Parts: sequence; C-alpha cells; structure tokens
Amino acid sequence: MEAYEEQIEQVLLSSDAIQGRIAEMADRINHDYAGRELLLVGVLKGAFVVMADLSRHIDLPMEFDFMAVSSYGAATKTSGVVRIMKDLDHEVAGRHVLVVEDIVDSGLTLKYLLRNLSTRKPASLEVAALLWKTGVQQVDLDIRYVGFEIPPVFVVGYGLDYDERFRNLPYVGTLKPEVYAEALP
Ligand code: IMP
Repeated sequence: MEAYEEQIEQVLLSSDAIQGRIAEMADRINHDYAGRELLLVGVLKGAFVVMADLSRHIDLPMEFDFMAVSSYGAATKTSGVVRIMKDLDHEVAGRHVLVVEDIVDSGLTLKYLLRNLSTRKPASLEVAALLWKTGVQQVDLDIRYVGFEIPPVFVVGYGLDYDERFRNLPYVGTLKPEVYAEALP
C-alpha cells in the first residue's frame, strides 16, 4: 500500500501469513463450536478487520455485536483505565460468546471486558485474538485462540492504528521513529 509505504519500518506479518492463520483459527472454532450458535463480540475499533475476515471462514450460525472501550488516543502505552464507550446491543445470558480482539498488550482491556461480560451469565465466554505481545501482560488471561505471538513493540495495520491511521494496511508492521517524532507537539 503506497500511501503509507514511506512510514513503515518493517513488515512483521504479511497479508498472506495473516490470512492463512485466520483460516486456521476459524477451522478450530468451527470444530469447537459445532452444533452451537455464536455471538461474536468485536472490540472496536481495531477488531473490525480481523472480525470481518475471521467470521467469513466460520461456518456456524452467528450474530455480531460490538463494544467500544476507551483507547490510547495518540499515545502508545496503555493507561490501565478502561471505559465502556459503547455497550452491546444483544443480551449475553445463555449465549456462546466469542470476543474478538486485535491485540493483547498489557491485557488490562480484555481482563476488564471479560470480567464485565461474565457477570452477564453467558453459556460460554472465550477470546480470539490475532496478536499476543510476549512478556508484557500485567494480568493472567486465558485466551483460547491466538493468531501470532509478536515481540512487545508497537505495531500498526490490519485494524491497528497509530493516531487513527494505518488501520487499512493489509499487513502488520512497525513504524519508523520519525512518524512518532512528527506527532510530538
Ligand atoms: P491492552 O489493554 O494493553 O492489552 O491494550 C489493548 C488495546 O490497546 C488493543 O485492543 C489496541 O487497541 C491497543 N494496542 C495495544 N498495543 C497496540 C499496538 O501495538 N498498536 C496499536 N494498538 C495497540
């Protein structure tokens, strides 16, 4: 994608690698949830890309819902403060809920969401996350479906943004340092 090419330092995961892995994750989901109906819950905004691709490989009846939580803004570190900006439209009680996340960094966002959703008495509650940053989680998390483990660096693309840009990159990569420098006041 030429629009962003000059700002990308390194491609960590190619589009082909991501698509292949998403199909594998969906195979496991198809197997594990056979005969059941899913409620897929995407965490906005980043998860919309993985949710779109993953769901089209899932061969089960399902409904979609979304939650929005407070994000980093233009900063690249988590604040630990999680606020629900948009709640689900669906009832969760008795449903098989699969939360779809783009990336697990500190894990604080997901921990909060899972605790919140579990109080609503779903029949089951699991997570599919495309990316897992190694060695930086501040909380214990049990994630059933992980796409890739990546080093704890800030990445963009495939739904992930820096200051709301780069979400439409079909791959996952790192940014050149000058991109951050330009954003400083
Ligand atoms: P956590 O609460 O620290 O696990 O962060 C979760 C959220 O922070 C993710 O859903 C992303 O929206 C955002 N985030 C974490 N790491 C990155 C990154 O490397 N690039 C872009 N967004 C990120």
